[in-house]
Amino acid sequence: MKNRQIILLARPKGKLGPEHFQMTEGVVPDPKEGEVLVRVRLISLDAANRAWMQGATYRSAVEAGGVMAGGAIAEVVTSPASEFKPGDLVFADTGWQDYAALPAKGLIKLPRIEPITNLLSVYGIAGLTAYFGLLRIGRPQPDETVVVSAAAGSVGSFVGQIGKIKGCRVVGIAGGAAKCDWLVGELGFDAAVDYKLGSVDRALKAAAPRGVDVYFDNVGGEILEACLPLMNVGGRIVCCGAVSAYDGTAPAAGPRGVPGLIVIKRLLMQGFIVMDYFSERYAAVAELQRWVQAGQLKIQEDVIDGLENTPKALIGLLAGENRGKRMVRVSQ
Ligand SMILES: NC(=O)c1ccc[n+]([C@@H]2O[C@H](COP(=O)([O-])OP(=O)(O)OC[C@H]3O[C@@H](n4cnc5c(N)ncnc54)[C@H](OP(=O)(O)O)[C@@H]3O)[C@@H](O)[C@H]2O)c1
Repeated sequence: MKNRQIILLARPKGKLGPEHFQMTEGVVPDPKEGEVLVRVRLISLDAANRAWMQGATYRSAVEAGGVMAGGAIAEVVTSPASEFKPGDLVFADTGWQDYAALPAKGLIKLPRIEPITNLLSVYGIAGLTAYFGLLRIGRPQPDETVVVSAAAGSVGSFVGQIGKIKGCRVVGIAGGAAKCDWLVGELGFDAAVDYKLGSVDRALKAAAPRGVDVYFDNVGGEILEACLPLMNVGGRIVCCGAVSAYDGTAPAAGPRGVPGLIVIKRLLMQGFIVMDYFSERYAAVAELQRWVQAGQLKIQEDVIDGLENTPKALIGLLAGENRGKRMVRVSQ
């Protein structure tokens, strides 16, 4: 049995490109004591994959010369640990490869939910990030206005829909008319702003005439700067990520308005990492399942076939190719 692996050749200085990766073929690893051998089924593609190349974040930086890191759903092949048996599905940082041998304590056992792609989208990191970030930090109240950036992406598309479930006016910010039409026409957002047209501040003012109570920030940079003056007194800014700063050289200074507008408008601006809430994830998944079953929460998945396509799929995600949760199917 062969183990195909995608190696990160160098950490990019500017934009990420196919030249930063190489596919090699190794052997299937021999698990050491306490390790479980898993076969990768679906690799999660995340904007954060690119952020890890910039340096240490909530995890250590990915280093050049090794298998590219990444979370995945994998199937247990052999296990010395009684809690895992062959055929069990787990979530783990397997990296971009066919097989991995990992310490049993680092594996998260997954429930049997079909299709298993849902375990990476609505019931995985994407859905849970939207759920906890919006409800615990954003705390949206009925009739309030929620704005979310990267709104047609995996986290953003759930944020907006959960905002609607909570009775809010929801405005999405996304790149391009097709994505904006989809947010309003298919996902039930009240309005969408195409940031690629420029003048986000003006367009947002028109889309959120009563101001913004919750801004769920996935992008940082100029869009955060455009949202700040529109925030209502007592508004909450959920700092989820900064995708505008991931794929390039050092991020620009800013945004203007910090801390001045934070003080004047008595804003809460709080970051979080979804794992902070993991002890509550089963209850969250149960609520997400109820919303899906009631038809209130639509799931959009963007599945790409073939391990060899993983670099291209990440580069495309950073360029906004994806709609909803992007993932790569490595094996059936
Ligand atoms: N805090 C946490 O625990 C946590 C967990 C998961 C994810 N996140 C964060 O959530 C955000 C979304 O990540 P994801 O993995 O779900 O990716 P995603 O939203 O599915 O895809 C990224 C999207 O970002 C948009 N984008 C790219 N460059 C942009 C720019 N310069 N300005 C505005 N939008 C841009 C693109 O859509 P357009 O076509 O609209 O440009 C792209 O589709 C990231 O900031 C990520 O770090 C945080």
